[in-house]
Amino acid sequence: MALNNRETRDGRTNDHHQNSSLRRGFIGKCLGFLGSLSFLTVLYPLIRYLEPPPEARGVSKVELDLADLPSGAARLVTYRGRPALVVNGENGIVAFNGVCSHLGCAVKWVMRDQEFACPCHGGRFDLQGRVIGGPPPEPLVPIAVSIHGDKVVLGA
Ligand code: FES
Repeated sequence: MALNNRETRDGRTNDHHQNSSLRRGFIGKCLGFLGSLSFLTVLYPLIRYLEPPPEARGVSKVELDLADLPSGAARLVTYRGRPALVVNGENGIVAFNGVCSHLGCAVKWVMRDQEFACPCHGGRFDLQGRVIGGPPPEPLVPIAVSIHGDKVVLGA
């Protein structure tokens, strides 16, 4: 019997080969789709991680009432998407990024000692943000501060 008929040497029909070919094509497309989906599920969080948060792009100035910052006290605010500490210290008002330079814990203001302290590993910083104790390798990052009337403005 001729091979160009509907039956091949092993007894299967051309329809069977066509169905197999279609099935392989379908499975290949499904695998390609799943592969693309897997790639996107890895790529999307990576892009979101690398992209700055919306607050970091939008808010570049923060205002506080001067009356809310008595001498020696501190206020915690969010500045460019990160915690920031504003302190009315003995030499005026200062502000720092509130993230510890060691492993990134949130630094707190200790009014009694007039210094910043990191609760994670005992890091300590003075009113100029310099390291005075513990493992932090770098000082706190300062934020520009100005006074406009009865307002304290960060990011001026
Ligand atoms: S994270 Fe601040 S001292 Fe370790």
